[in-house]
Amino acid sequence: METVVITGANRGIGLEMTKQFLNTNRRVIVGCRNPSEATALNDLSSVGELSVFQLDVSDSVSIKDFCAELSGVNIDILINNAGVLDREKQGMLGVNAKHWLETFKINSIAPFEVAVGLLENLKTSSRPRIVSVSSQLGSLHLKGPGLYSYNSSKAALNQVMKIMSQDLEADGVIVCPIHPGWVQTDMGGSEADITPQESAGGIISFIDNLTMEQSGRFWQWNGEEHPW
Ligand SMILES: NC(=O)c1ccc[n+]([C@@H]2O[C@H](COP(=O)([O-])OP(=O)(O)OC[C@H]3O[C@@H](n4cnc5c(N)ncnc54)[C@H](OP(=O)(O)O)[C@@H]3O)[C@@H](O)[C@H]2O)c1
Repeated sequence: METVVITGANRGIGLEMTKQFLNTNRRVIVGCRNPSEATALNDLSSVGELSVFQLDVSDSVSIKDFCAELSGVNIDILINNAGVLDREKQGMLGVNAKHWLETFKINSIAPFEVAVGLLENLKTSSRPRIVSVSSQLGSLHLKGPGLYSYNSSKAALNQVMKIMSQDLEADGVIVCPIHPGWVQTDMGGSEADITPQESAGGIISFIDNLTMEQSGRFWQWNGEEHPW
């Protein structure tokens, strides 16, 4: 049975991925900021083998504690899903350095810290995969809205994943960022293109078929490649 770790699993795409992995007979270990308040997540314990841990990815100590709790546990798939977008603080006059750095910590640096913290666990897998949920807004290719901190944090995440894919190639660890689509969640809003069910289903099918040849490249939820 494969073991999957997902960050930011109490709502949105993370919650739906947790549900779908459990429904397809995977053991799922998740991190969220407030486990005692994560009712929808805790309810999934009835679906399959779910373990819920406290994890605030803005805090490096919390990341270390989370990884220490998993010491010795084999992990096949790590999904860095937790992310933030504060639309109030994005425009040229709204953004500020403190908020920007916080966004970078959560969206760009934490995925690196979690991956490094769980590296020994991943290396015991016969097919280790690290997938970070990025965004098309991080692509330098697209002409999109000017979300300074969010877009730049996802562009940085893409670069971090690319470097990591090269560092871990010899160890057989597949690493890539993925755009989940524009999804109907708290972050994406109700006008978004696809449901969390469609996004999570696409991402899981992609991860299940992921090969080393696809490592270090930027993908979309439907399996199509995304330009950097
Ligand atoms: N929805 C879209 O259209 C879209 C498009 C492109 C990319 N994405 C990316 O997809 C991922 C999931 O987004 P979503 O749409 O599901 O967003 P969401 O509904 O806003 O959920 C975000 C999740 O991240 C968690 N999170 C935020 N900060 C955290 C922290 N410091 N520590 C731990 N967990 C934290 C949240 O937990 P709390 O409940 O504790 O806040 C929540 O579980 C994000 O990385 C996002 O950037 C989404």
